[in-house]
Amino acid sequence: MKNICVVGVGYVGLVTGTCFADLGNRITGVDIVEERIANLNKGILPIYEPGLEEMVKRNVNAGRLKFTTSYAEGLKDADFVFIAVGTPEGVDGEADLQYVRQAAIATAEAMTKPLIVVNKSTVPVGTGDWVADIIRQSQPSPIPFSVVSCPEFLREGSAIVDFMNPHRTVLGSLEADAADKVAQLHLPLRAPIVVTDLRTAEMIKYASNAFLATKISFINEIANICEALGADVKEVAAGMGYDGRIGKQFLDAGLGYGGSCFPKDVKALAHMASVQGKHPQLLQAVMDINGDQRKLVVNKLRELLGELDDKVVGLLGLAFKPNTDDMRDAPSLEIARALQIAGARVKGYDPVAMTMAGRMLPNVQLVDDPYELAEGCDALVVITEWNEFKNLDMERIKASMRGSAVVDGRNLYDAAQMGQLGFRYRGIGRGYNGK
Ligand code: UGA
Repeated sequence: MKNICVVGVGYVGLVTGTCFADLGNRITGVDIVEERIANLNKGILPIYEPGLEEMVKRNVNAGRLKFTTSYAEGLKDADFVFIAVGTPEGVDGEADLQYVRQAAIATAEAMTKPLIVVNKSTVPVGTGDWVADIIRQSQPSPIPFSVVSCPEFLREGSAIVDFMNPHRTVLGSLEADAADKVAQLHLPLRAPIVVTDLRTAEMIKYASNAFLATKISFINEIANICEALGADVKEVAAGMGYDGRIGKQFLDAGLGYGGSCFPKDVKALAHMASVQGKHPQLLQAVMDINGDQRKLVVNKLRELLGELDDKVVGLLGLAFKPNTDDMRDAPSLEIARALQIAGARVKGYDPVAMTMAGRMLPNVQLVDDPYELAEGCDALVVITEWNEFKNLDMERIKASMRGSAVVDGRNLYDAAQMGQLGFRYRGIGRGYNGK
């Protein structure tokens, strides 16, 4: 059992802290946002993540997890402090490190005994060294500490499963003792542990996200070629995926990647490269293709409906992917805007992101279920591949629509079946029948 302080109880911090508590450690979550801490103390979570609420409650009740706004309280008995604050996109795609700086200064001022500072936030290569400098300069009197980079590889919507079953744990530090202590914390997870230097660990995170984003843009490019040549990208991806060198995952063609990680991280990596005088051509292409996928949907709607003026379009799903209410950089935002500019009336439904959507899509008419969404629509667009959309009563949907167009941005439906039901259906890269 170790005492761990987690700074930042947003997505990464809350999942990491709660999972470490579940492994038997004692965790104090610190955040400067008072409302967030007050809510957590009442059992109200700032994010939606399957299984997390129950896990937070269980560990709070067991006395292994608590929340405070006070660094002094959080660091009182801590052997480790995990920095898990946000690193939003700043100017020119550069990561904004103001919260990391604040966390480092506050930690330096409040620490009373030797501490291992573990950086979880996704930060530009070199930030670990910078954090160490800030702590050294901000300590009222010198107390030994070490900085270890331990990037997170959690997917929203399956973060608990990902935490408990990691592919690997990456640790960056040249101080063998500190790296070993952080490694001990991760031993119950039984995953390979890669120990390297700080900068290499930070780079592993960016390179991993950029590679996954590249796979997505690759298959989207192939989808567009499939569409032109009459091949079906879903079957192409399946056929490719059997080759272990390629792998099945992250080859779903569609509206491309969104969310709070891939868009920001690919941009930040490209920015770091440019600053060093490099030309990140591949990363640039990955971003361009991703942007184009969103425009494609609007073009397909034009193909099916002609002018979009006064047309009613329903967006099926609004979150950037299933099992989350996160709408950061969600394709729904850009697509809704483009449709509205073209004069269309936009309706929207999402199983969990409705509160978020109310804030982020103020001019979209939000409705309570997929059937209400379909009422009076000239077209439906599948934005998010929620499970509950897979088995909708399509005859009922068709009957309540004004038109019959469906643009399936996630290739959720069978083109032939949709045709038989009387829909004018377009998927992404689905060959002659379902293009
Ligand atoms: C991603 C990574 O998968 C995590 O390993 C990483 O820790 C996290 O970013 C982060 O840096 O914090 P996440 O953004 O939650 O996790 O979501 P993913 O499940 O990876 O999906 C990202 C986007 O790619 C989604 O918009 C999804 O719809 C899209 N995607 C994914 C595709 O378009 N096609 C695919 O085949 C797979």
